[in-house]
Amino acid sequence: MKVLILKNADEVASLVASELIERIQSFKPTDQKPFLVLGLPTGSTPIPVYKLLVQAYQNKEISFKNVVTFNMDEYKGLAAEHNQSYHYFMQENLFGLIDIPRNQIHILDGMAKDTSAECKAYEEKIASFGGIDIQLAGIGENGHLAFNEPGTSFQSLTHEQKLTENTIEVNSRFFEKKEDVPTSALTIGLKTVFEAKKVIVLATGEKKAEAVYKSVRMPVTENCPASILQEHENSVFVCDEGAGKKLK
Ligand code: GLP
Repeated sequence: MKVLILKNADEVASLVASELIERIQSFKPTDQKPFLVLGLPTGSTPIPVYKLLVQAYQNKEISFKNVVTFNMDEYKGLAAEHNQSYHYFMQENLFGLIDIPRNQIHILDGMAKDTSAECKAYEEKIASFGGIDIQLAGIGENGHLAFNEPGTSFQSLTHEQKLTENTIEVNSRFFEKKEDVPTSALTIGLKTVFEAKKVIVLATGEKKAEAVYKSVRMPVTENCPASILQEHENSVFVCDEGAGKKLK
């Protein structure tokens, strides 16, 4: 695992966006591998990265015609049209602004009647594209990755996850009131994240300092889901000074 501490959130976004742009530009589709497969997060942290990707697309530097995406998670019970669903977030911040074909976008269906069938099909879909090439992620204040809360097994695949009180509290800032935050979600698992060929975690702001410290410097434990990445041979935490504060 590598750790980079940059000056501020702008530098974090521009470094990560540059890497993605470079990977998209240099990707040469073949019959065996027609698509570059990206795993994508939601949250406030990746928004500046998405802005730079949109800009690069508008400047005709990149096209998403050969890109397939898998989002990390979705709230259970929120329809795609709900303005706090991750479907909606992705449409507003990325997919609605670039040239990715609709059938190359994958997001778990929070309204699925049979949750376990939905989760199983998602894993199979990821496998059918040969796995995730680059998994981008944010990190929760409690060290969660996607919606894998502390205590989730490192062996977990895509599953339904009950959200902790802390996550509900933290995420309530986006809802009118705390009671509106769904109490569970569908999420890719920690094994799903771990199997990505490369994992890039973005962390900005002092609120993430403790989670970053525990993930990077403390022993690997299921109590801190992101600590699993210490064992990944191609993972990197890209932090600003606030999030990297405790590492110095
Ligand atoms: C949510 C998402 C996570 C995300 C986290 C951090 O709980 N499920 O995938 O990493 O929030 O969000 P933010 O970037 O807004 O701090």
